[in-house]
Amino acid sequence: MIQSVCILGRQPVLGLAELESLYGPLVQATAHGVAGIGLPADAIDFARLGGSTKLATILATVTSSNQKQIEKALLGIVRSPAFLLPKSGKFHLGLSSIGVDMSPAKLNALGLTLKKVIRTRHDGSVRTVPNTTPELSTAQVFHSHLANENGAELLLINTGQQTIIARTVAVQDIDSYTLRDRARPKRDARVGMLPPKLAQTIINLAVGSNPGQTPLTILDPFCGTGVVLQEALLMGYNVYGTDLEPRMIAYSQANLEWLSAQNLKLEHETWKIEVGDATTHRWEPRPTFIAGETYLGRPFTEVPDRATLEQTVSDVNAILTKFLRNIRPQLTPGTRLCLAMPAWQTRPNTFRRLPLLDSLEKIGYNRVEFERVSSDRLLYYREDQIVARELLVLTVK
Ligand SMILES: C[S@@+](CC[C@H](N)C(=O)[O-])C[C@H]1O[C@@H](n2cnc3c(N)ncnc32)[C@H](O)[C@@H]1O
Repeated sequence: MIQSVCILGRQPVLGLAELESLYGPLVQATAHGVAGIGLPADAIDFARLGGSTKLATILATVTSSNQKQIEKALLGIVRSPAFLLPKSGKFHLGLSSIGVDMSPAKLNALGLTLKKVIRTRHDGSVRTVPNTTPELSTAQVFHSHLANENGAELLLINTGQQTIIARTVAVQDIDSYTLRDRARPKRDARVGMLPPKLAQTIINLAVGSNPGQTPLTILDPFCGTGVVLQEALLMGYNVYGTDLEPRMIAYSQANLEWLSAQNLKLEHETWKIEVGDATTHRWEPRPTFIAGETYLGRPFTEVPDRATLEQTVSDVNAILTKFLRNIRPQLTPGTRLCLAMPAWQTRPNTFRRLPLLDSLEKIGYNRVEFERVSSDRLLYYREDQIVARELLVLTVK
C-alpha cells in the first residue's frame, strides 16, 4: 500500500526511473507527475533524490474528487491531534492541488476555513500562503518553511479514482543546490554545466537498489569539473575521477577540496583523481559503479547542417564505443553504469541518437529495463537545447 508520495520534477520520467532504481516494486506511478511509494516517508532518503521536488506522507484518501468531501476530510485532519502543530510561534499553512479541480481562489478560501480551526488548537499566529497557482512552488514551500514543524503544506492529489491528501515532509533545498552549483571555485561553461540534481539522478540510476552499503566507489571517467564526484561524496560514496585534460583534473581537485572544507560530514569518504584517456586508461582499484556525463561532442546553439551533424555523431560514437570496449573487461560482470551521453534534438522532441545504442549487447552490455518507464525515454533537455543528454543505464554482461 502507498504510504508516501514524491512530487516529480520538471522531467517526471527521470524522477520516476530514479525512484524505481532505488525502491523497485514499491514505486507506483499515480498521475499528474506524482509517484506513490509503499514506504513511510522517513524510510526515504529524500536529500539524495534529484528528480523529486517534494516528499509527503499520506494522511487520508477520499474516494472521489468531490470538493465537499475533500473539505470535510481536510477539516477532520486539522482538528485531529495527529496533525502536529508547534508548541508556540508562527505557523504557516499552504494548500496545493495536483489535478484536483480547484481554482486558486477556492484553495485560498479553503485555507482560511482551515486556518480558523488551527487557531483553536494553536497559541501563536497562523498565516496562510496564498495560491496564485493550484500548486505552491518548491520555492514557496521552501522559503515559507512549510515542510518543517512551523508549517504545513497539504497536497490534494487526484489519482483518477480517488483523491489523496498528504502532508509535505521534505522539499528540495534550493539554497543548497545553488551553493553546490554556483559557489564552487572552478566552473567551466565550455564543458557544460551539469546541474547537481541531474548528477544525483545519474548516481541513483547507477547505484540501483543497493545504495546503502559503504565503502563503495563511484567512478566518473569523464569527470570534468567534478559535479558527479561532488554529489557522490555527499551521498557517502568514495569517488574516483579521471579526465583527458589535466586542467579539468585540477578543477575537480579544487572543487572537492572546497566541498570537503565546508562539510564536516565528509571525513570518511576518500577520493582519487587522475588524468586519463577513457579510451585507453586502466582504472585501479576496480570501481563498484560507473556514473558520469561523457564527452558530448561540440556544443551547438542551432541545429547544424546534415554533414556537420553526421560528422559529430560519428566522432562521438567512435570515442564512446572505444571507451565502453576499454572499460568492460576491467569491470566485474553485473557492474552497473549510468552514463549521460549526447542525443541531438534536430526537431522539437525528435532526437538523433548515437548508433552505439544498437550494438550495446555486442560490446558486452545489457540495457537495464524499467517497469514504469521505457528506457529510451530517459532524456534530459530543455525545449531549445540541441545537445540533449540521454541517460543510458547498463550492466556489464
Ligand atoms: C561534458 S564534460 C563533463 C563535465 C562534468 N560532468 C563536470 O562536472 O564538469 C566531458 C568531459 O570529458 C572529457 N573528455 C573528452 N574526451 C575524453 C576522453 N577520451 N577521455 C577522458 N575524458 C575525456 C572532457 O575533457 C570533459 O571534461
